[in-house]
Amino acid sequence: MLKNDLIVRTIKGETVERPPVWVMRQAGRILPEYLEIRRSLSGFKELVTTPELAAEVTVQPVDILGVDAAIIFSDILVIPEAMGLPYEMVEGRGPFFPETVKSSSDVEKLSIAEGKELTYVYDAIRHTRNTLDGRVPVIGFAGAPFTILCYMIEGKGSKTFNNARRWLHAEPELSHKLLDKITESTINYLKAQASAGVSLYQVFDSWAGVLSEALYREFCIPYLERIAEAMGELPGIVFAKGAHFAMRDLLSTSYRAVGLDWTMEPQQYRESFPDKVLQGNFDPCTLYASEEVVVERTKEMLSKFGSSNHIVNLGHGVYPDTDWRKVKLFIDTVKAHNY
Ligand code: CP3
Repeated sequence: MLKNDLIVRTIKGETVERPPVWVMRQAGRILPEYLEIRRSLSGFKELVTTPELAAEVTVQPVDILGVDAAIIFSDILVIPEAMGLPYEMVEGRGPFFPETVKSSSDVEKLSIAEGKELTYVYDAIRHTRNTLDGRVPVIGFAGAPFTILCYMIEGKGSKTFNNARRWLHAEPELSHKLLDKITESTINYLKAQASAGVSLYQVFDSWAGVLSEALYREFCIPYLERIAEAMGELPGIVFAKGAHFAMRDLLSTSYRAVGLDWTMEPQQYRESFPDKVLQGNFDPCTLYASEEVVVERTKEMLSKFGSSNHIVNLGHGVYPDTDWRKVKLFIDTVKAHNY
């Protein structure tokens, strides 16, 4: 039994007393308690693959910030690794793949993850649930197939992901084959997370914004929809950063909730899709403003979303040098709001 099931009731479209709030990248980056554990380890991957520690940092923002949900501490890049492309996390630089996908034989060689390769994630979910003892629900997650394809082809972060985009144009059939394998792996992975006890899940399409409407319709929407359908009753959130051109398509998928980044205005979507749950969309940079401004802008955001069907979040992950007390102020302001 969950003591706080606000986010679950909200995503199912039930009437709630106030909007639930959680923060993308809440588990990690900003909390001194996280940084301390992180410093004591050899690296990021040790934290991700040690279930007791992953669970500990997953619960920290619930204890310290008072969020209404815990998101399991992991990374979207565990899927390429489970399919045969290991990643490294380079200190201060970000992800790096020693091997990337370059040819049709590389696509052939990739396996479809069955889910069991990532037992450490499910163990972390179970540990987290034991520690939380029903205080708040646990959110599972995965990268969207296109965003995972970006890393598999590019091998590291990029502003434009032009090698990945080149593939969509130069190798459309092979791109579909790769997306298909990633999608099947992701479904197996999310289903195993569901069995371990997550109450909802989010799919991160972080690089959606480098595409166009036509490419998004061809290479993203069908795979995202396949995931939502495969997950059945488990409610999902899809967040496609920068994808203004795809919002109406995303709102027409089977996801119960759609995330908005901070450049998107909720009102226009609220009017055309009154029953969809919208998530977002506080600009994470507003957290560098004064306390008064943080409170004022939070209230402004709440009023723009209206008085139902809203999961409060930032418009993208919290930046590492943000003062965690400002994040707490943002959360407390939401929690003081009554519909
Ligand atoms: O709090 C949470 O949201 C849960 C944990 C989580 C992490 N990564 C931990 C992490 C989640 C949900 C992710 C998702 C993720 N990973 C995304 C999608 C979200 C987004 O930001 O768009 C992406 C694109 C990645 C890939 C990735 N992982 C990058 C580009 C980087 C390096 C830059 C960065 O964000 O710091 C990572 C590393 C990473 N993943 C860190 C954390 C806490 C920082 C590593 C550290 O502690 O040194």
